[in-house]
Amino acid sequence: MKKTSVNIGIIGFGTVGAGTARILLKKRGELESRLGFPLTLKNIADLDTERDRGIKLPPGILINDAQRVLNDPEIDIVVELMGGIHPAKEFILQAIRNGKHVVTANKALLATEGHEIFRAARKSRVDIGFEASVAGSIPIIKVVRESLIGNRIQSIYGIINGTSNYILTKMTEEGLDFTTALREAQALGYAEADPTFDIEGIDSAHKLTILASLSFGIPFSFKKIYTEGITKITPLDIQFASEFGYKIKLLAVAKQEGDTVEVRVHPTMLPKDYLIASVNGVFNAVYIEGDAIGSHLYYGRGAGEMPTGSAVVGDIADIAKNIIATQNTEYRTQTGLIQDTKYRIKKMEDVQTCYYLRFSAFDKPGVLSRISGILGNHNISIKSMIQKGRKLEKAVPVVMMTHEARERDMMRALKEINGLPAVSGKTVYLRVEGGNNQDGRHKG
Ligand code: NDP
Ligand code: HSE
Repeated sequence: MKKTSVNIGIIGFGTVGAGTARILLKKRGELESRLGFPLTLKNIADLDTERDRGIKLPPGILINDAQRVLNDPEIDIVVELMGGIHPAKEFILQAIRNGKHVVTANKALLATEGHEIFRAARKSRVDIGFEASVAGSIPIIKVVRESLIGNRIQSIYGIINGTSNYILTKMTEEGLDFTTALREAQALGYAEADPTFDIEGIDSAHKLTILASLSFGIPFSFKKIYTEGITKITPLDIQFASEFGYKIKLLAVAKQEGDTVEVRVHPTMLPKDYLIASVNGVFNAVYIEGDAIGSHLYYGRGAGEMPTGSAVVGDIADIAKNIIATQNTEYRTQTGLIQDTKYRIKKMEDVQTCYYLRFSAFDKPGVLSRISGILGNHNISIKSMIQKGRKLEKAVPVVMMTHEARERDMMRALKEINGLPAVSGKTVYLRVEGGNNQDGRHKG
């Protein structure tokens, strides 16, 4: 019998589950008229069926057993919104074995176990939708795997963690301390169950793993991504960055050069007049350069109940259209994820960027020449410098911007500099994009 509607089962009725259910239920009529057939939310499974989620469900929808969703022959699409690796992975594999299409927002799972999941989906000829896994409401997965298919992607620069962008924005604009800003982001539902993922750059690295795999055809390489978070960023560095004309952002970078791809996540200084530097709060942005398009910038909300629910519903609708059009007999869009590649990942020590350096140095004759001598011996050239205050008995901050240098050289130079008797404590360093004006196209 020909199918005339598509049934959906959600597992996980938390922030994103509630947003997805709200859209499916409230916009049922609009969705049906846009698609030409109804999307029916048959069940939502959550461990806790008592907690108030601020949304009234029709009777019988909320259940406490995910197995009922996974084994229900009437459910066509299983939407995994519980998060974590286990048992989310086992649930998804079970859904796939049962011939169900899957939609997930679970970037941690895809970045670490994606190959097994996509292989299983390919074998069972079912689709996996994962738009919500990167950059929340921004349809960046669709862009990379469908809209830009005619391009060779050259580079991606992303602000793809709403929580850390929210924190850095609050620290920069309102002088809030780190902990207060994090608490606000958690209260707003932006942060992961374990906020360490957000503030240590791990969530950005999960998302970059997915984007880099789609864009460059490399395997999911989460473990190979250089990852550094924002926990060491201080108001002092935010202020110095501003004096030099920069903002500090947690940037995810994937850049192709020859037969290598750089994939890295770290706090980065960006010139204030770059469009991406003005992306504030929970907003995300992804800047992409391709050989046909030149450059594009995608911008929008990167987290939260309704923006993320919107991305999940977009995937559900896409897969549902395919189910109705092909009546489940044809397998559609697994492009981009299981590919051969000519690219290898560049070692972090070979990456070249400009640097911001903050030394705490005793203001004694010859200190600066010792520091600049060591930098010079390691092929690092200074672009500009400021020294704040003059106290003979106390270390004062000396701040430098360098021209492009190799990471390996910089780490060796800093080791020597940190050992100088006139230098107190560890030197703070931040990588800088656009420091040599090499990326002028980012400009607003
Ligand atoms: P929440 O913690 O708010 O919701 C998860 C829900 O799943 C909770 O209600 C939890 O119940 C439930 N759950 C856990 N285990 C099971 C199980 N075995 N069976 C049924 N239900 C279960 O998470 P979010 O909604 O924030 O995130 C969900 C996913 O979306 C994650 O992968 C996250 O990374 C991703 N994501 C989140 C975004 C956001 O803005 N929050 C944005 C983009 C992606 P209980 O609380 O009782 O444990
Ligand atoms: N914790 C994530 C963030 C949620 O803050 O961006 C969206 O993936």
